[in-house]
Amino acid sequence: MYPKVSATHNKIIAVLGGSGFVGQHLVRTLVEAGYQVRVLARHRERCRELLVLPRVSVIDTNIMTLSNLHKHLAGCSAVINLVAVLNENKKGVFQRLHVDLPQMIIDACVINKIDRVIHMSALNAYSGKAPSRYLTSKGKGEDTIHTGADDGINVTTLRPSVIFGPGDNLFNRFSSLLKFVTHLPLACPNARFAPVYVNDVVDVIVKSLSEKATFGQRYDLCGPRVYTLQQLVEFTIKTLGINRKVIPLGNGTSKLMARILSIAPGKPLTYDNYLSMQIDSVSNEKFPTIFNITPQPMEAIVPRYLMNQNQRGQFDRFRLYAGRDD
Ligand SMILES: NC(=O)c1ccc[n+]([C@@H]2O[C@H](COP(=O)([O-])OP(=O)(O)OC[C@H]3O[C@@H](n4cnc5c(N)ncnc54)[C@H](OP(=O)(O)O)[C@@H]3O)[C@@H](O)[C@H]2O)c1
Repeated sequence: MYPKVSATHNKIIAVLGGSGFVGQHLVRTLVEAGYQVRVLARHRERCRELLVLPRVSVIDTNIMTLSNLHKHLAGCSAVINLVAVLNENKKGVFQRLHVDLPQMIIDACVINKIDRVIHMSALNAYSGKAPSRYLTSKGKGEDTIHTGADDGINVTTLRPSVIFGPGDNLFNRFSSLLKFVTHLPLACPNARFAPVYVNDVVDVIVKSLSEKATFGQRYDLCGPRVYTLQQLVEFTIKTLGINRKVIPLGNGTSKLMARILSIAPGKPLTYDNYLSMQIDSVSNEKFPTIFNITPQPMEAIVPRYLMNQNQRGQFDRFRLYAGRDD
């Protein structure tokens, strides 16, 4: 259970990346836990669904400027950083968002005397020799944000495998793709993942806020079962009840496909994504017991939202959030 509302209601939690998939779920859960939430977003309109929630304010600002961060974090008790991109649209974006921003967050926390930061990284992020530029930059970001300890800032980092839930970019993306093809050539079919439910991830974030034992820690967050990428796509096909065939590609063809799709509109797969999948997104660590959470398997959750897509193939957020029962 979360702390009592009386203990949290006068605390303002700043969320960076609140317009994203995890952010939208997180803000709702923070509100349920009784917090006031301040979302700093570059496109306020992407937070439309959050604006109707009680105790949520959305500030339209460029968070990549220290003076803006400094100004808008004033009065907050904690900062939660969810900002990231999976693909760079131009060189230097990974560095700026994944490494420079964590440093700016620490600087702004020092100025505002904020002593609590929760940072979202990714499984396999490592500043030394991660396989891809994405994972290396995420690893550097982790190391950077944990230097906040030198200034008395209590940092907790979460390192999830791929995250599923209403509005995800995993099963929803497969589902959209599968509408247009009868045969799906699949790069890196044997890459392995331990999908973790978004509500479990956001519960970890909210519980971490007030749990001192999490200060300074980095936690791997994995769901209860491991699947290959091919199994995840086949699960989507089965859930949708459609007749589609997956064509697994070998390593050479996967690499070539990633190179080609890197320059396709929307970059459905990049070479850096291909490199990230060269290492399994699984962990030897069990889901951290300190949170007292039993991670949910995808089979229990995914059919509920994939079957709830509206006619435009989009996720009907309100219906699903209203149906949230865990
Ligand atoms: N989803 C997963 O499977 C997964 C797995 C492992 C780790 N993670 C980590 O979890 C965190 C949240 O992921 P997510 O799935 O919620 O990602 P998401 O849906 O892509 O959201 C990313 C957020 O970052 C913001 N952002 C991106 N570029 C920005 C910029 N230049 N300036 C300001 N804000 C910017 C986005 O704002 P806009 O709406 O304005 O673009 C959005 O709010 C990330 O750190 C990610 O690395 C996610």
